Amino acid sequence: MDQSSPCLWVNASLFDGLNGAAEPMAVAVQEGRIAWLKPMSELNAADQSGFECIDAKGALMTPGLIDCHTHLVFGGNRAGEFEARLEGASYQDIARAGGGIISTVRATRTASEDELFESAKTRLQALMADGATTVEIKSGYGLDLENELKMLRVARRLGRELPVRVVTTLLGAHALPPEYKDDADGYISLVCNQMIPAAAAEGLADAVDVFCEHIAFSVEQCERVYTAAKAHGLAIKGHTEQLSNLGGSAAAARAGALSVDHIEYLDEAGVKALAEAGTVATLLPGAFYMLRETQLPPIELLRRYGVPMALATDANPGTSPIFSLKLMLNMACTLFRLTPIEALRGVTAHGARALGLQEEVGRIAPGLQADFCLWDTTNPAELAYSVGLPRLTHRVVAGMVAEK
Ligand code: NIG
Ligand code: FE
Repeated sequence: MDQSSPCLWVNASLFDGLNGAAEPMAVAVQEGRIAWLKPMSELNAADQSGFECIDAKGALMTPGLIDCHTHLVFGGNRAGEFEARLEGASYQDIARAGGGIISTVRATRTASEDELFESAKTRLQALMADGATTVEIKSGYGLDLENELKMLRVARRLGRELPVRVVTTLLGAHALPPEYKDDADGYISLVCNQMIPAAAAEGLADAVDVFCEHIAFSVEQCERVYTAAKAHGLAIKGHTEQLSNLGGSAAAARAGALSVDHIEYLDEAGVKALAEAGTVATLLPGAFYMLRETQLPPIELLRRYGVPMALATDANPGTSPIFSLKLMLNMACTLFRLTPIEALRGVTAHGARALGLQEEVGRIAPGLQADFCLWDTTNPAELAYSVGLPRLTHRVVAGMVAEK
């Protein structure tokens, strides 16, 4: 991203990614990064020389929002499956009958790279319109070497062509493709011996993810994937404890995972393992809501053990066809009883940590990228409180005002 000229944003009501500021602030941006911040009451004329001044007029400034878990690139959609679930079919029933993830795999394999790019671009623009400046995008609907790499190439291209940072994750171990029916270990060998080395060699993946669940892969199979990912210098993450408690989160934490995601069925031993490893717990209330889940993630235990909670859309065609981080703020509070500030940390400072990018994005602090949003309110809690408002008035990426 190009660098901007030096800018001084004055009179901002600041939420810095962790806390709100007590008084209006000035934020200086140089060469695309935050240079310094100070309270307006301490700002003098010399501070302002050489800067173009922009008056925020008291508006709330937050870090650019981070969506640390999405499946934005996919073919087709699953509206029919949504209707079937409303009639009583469960997500697991549909998956076992060859629908679910596998039906999106069929549509993704037949789609061209350009088609996938165009449909994902629309979804990404929806996230950006809501304040996202960093978005993680997973593969996982190709489930063979060629189509997994195709999805990752589309994700990389989105990051090159749109004013948003894109982080990519190889999710080869998402579901068992029909060609490997009854040979899950053989498929995991393909993921470990071909997909991971190729994605790493071509620079297409920043991390590797798995789906650890009865309808997907066992803890042991996921551990094989982690070992291969680490051997190729890639970070690891897991979809764990979404539908049952297999101990997948603790295994991921022991392997050094950046985050474990979903975690409705996580128990105290699992929470302790996260705390010991410094692994982030990523909450995905969109999937909880769409699946009409009733098992709540262990929020109180996560608080007690000091585990950072990230918050993401899980945007995908099956369990969370939702393209709004602001709606996630509201759902995290109404469904999971997070405080608005905890929810905001989840899409800023803790979302960055879930991607290993905490020294680059997610906070408004000296040295970090100048990625931030201005909102038509002064109160951070209003971002979670209201659905549809407050309006995003500015979205700034690397110091430059980007289109919303
Ligand atoms: O995060 N849990 C597994 N994967 C996705 C759902 C993918 C799908 O149903 O297409 C999730 O919920
Ligand atoms: Fe997911």
